[in-house]
Amino acid sequence: MRLLLLACLRAQTGNATTAARIQNHLHAAGHICVLKDAFMYESPTEIANLASADKFDAALAIHLYKGGRLLQGSRIPFGIIFGGTDVNEDTKCEEKHRVMGAVLGEARFAVAFTVKMKELAAAEWPDARKKIHVQAQGIKTTPSETFDWYRFLQNADWHRRDPSVHLGIIGPAVDPLFTSEVKEKVKRAPGVHLLQEVPQDDLHAAMKRCFAVVNSSISEGMSAAILEAMDLDIPVLARNILGNAAIIKHKETGLLFSDPQEFVVLSESLMNDPIMEREIVTRAKDYVKKHHSWESERKAYQNLVLRLQ
Ligand SMILES: *[C@@H]1O[C@H](CO)[C@@H](O)[C@H](O)[C@H]1NC(C)=O
Repeated sequence: MRLLLLACLRAQTGNATTAARIQNHLHAAGHICVLKDAFMYESPTEIANLASADKFDAALAIHLYKGGRLLQGSRIPFGIIFGGTDVNEDTKCEEKHRVMGAVLGEARFAVAFTVKMKELAAAEWPDARKKIHVQAQGIKTTPSETFDWYRFLQNADWHRRDPSVHLGIIGPAVDPLFTSEVKEKVKRAPGVHLLQEVPQDDLHAAMKRCFAVVNSSISEGMSAAILEAMDLDIPVLARNILGNAAIIKHKETGLLFSDPQEFVVLSESLMNDPIMEREIVTRAKDYVKKHHSWESERKAYQNLVLRLQ
């Protein structure tokens, strides 16, 4: 099959990584899967033209609104993969809610990463319940072997600072206003460094050199970075919010904190208790292997797209 996959392809973000993974799964089954950035298109008509000009047999979209809306009224069959903010945020807007309902109605199947996400979506659009599959994100880490850790640190101006404990914040600057606020704060926070995004394999190599991975997000989602850290045998300290608590059991597969004080206490206990650290890391790795299997994800998508024939 010749498949079109629409997603927000901004480099080094969660959706782009998921899109690349799904593309890889479909190529492995002998399909052709072409990724297109949803931001480059405005209307379903443009996608309809693209689909007929490029002779696509079927389509997939990540995010029921950002990608899905472009498939409304599509002549080729399609499936949807929920993005997270579609169900969590965009449902609050009446117009988006209506569009997403229509798109979901037309989709042959939809994929939610968690049971909870499926339940949220099914509560909004009860008729679609039966077509929503739950398939967790598959995790496979590939730390690059040639990664230059010392160059990476130098870029962070690390060498001039106190060499004990450091917090590196890494990732693309998506929101310019927020980025400038963060930059301001970081300037006044010794030991905290803003690092530019690097290719995923390098990021994995860098993570392997860290003592722990921290997620202090206050907005809900599903963190592939946390799952990758678990796969890389790195302990995770994460804020106790629903999205993080869904993948971390406190003191079993990671540590959950609710405020800065608790963060400090838990970090110190992790540093001072190598046995606890070892146990957490081992259980976390088992959890990822069992519940975020890359092979199961591959099989699931390879089977699902057969419904688009
Ligand atoms: C942090 O966690 C939130 C909630 O689970 C998630 O949306 C976000 O992508 C995570 N970020 C990182 C870098 O782990």
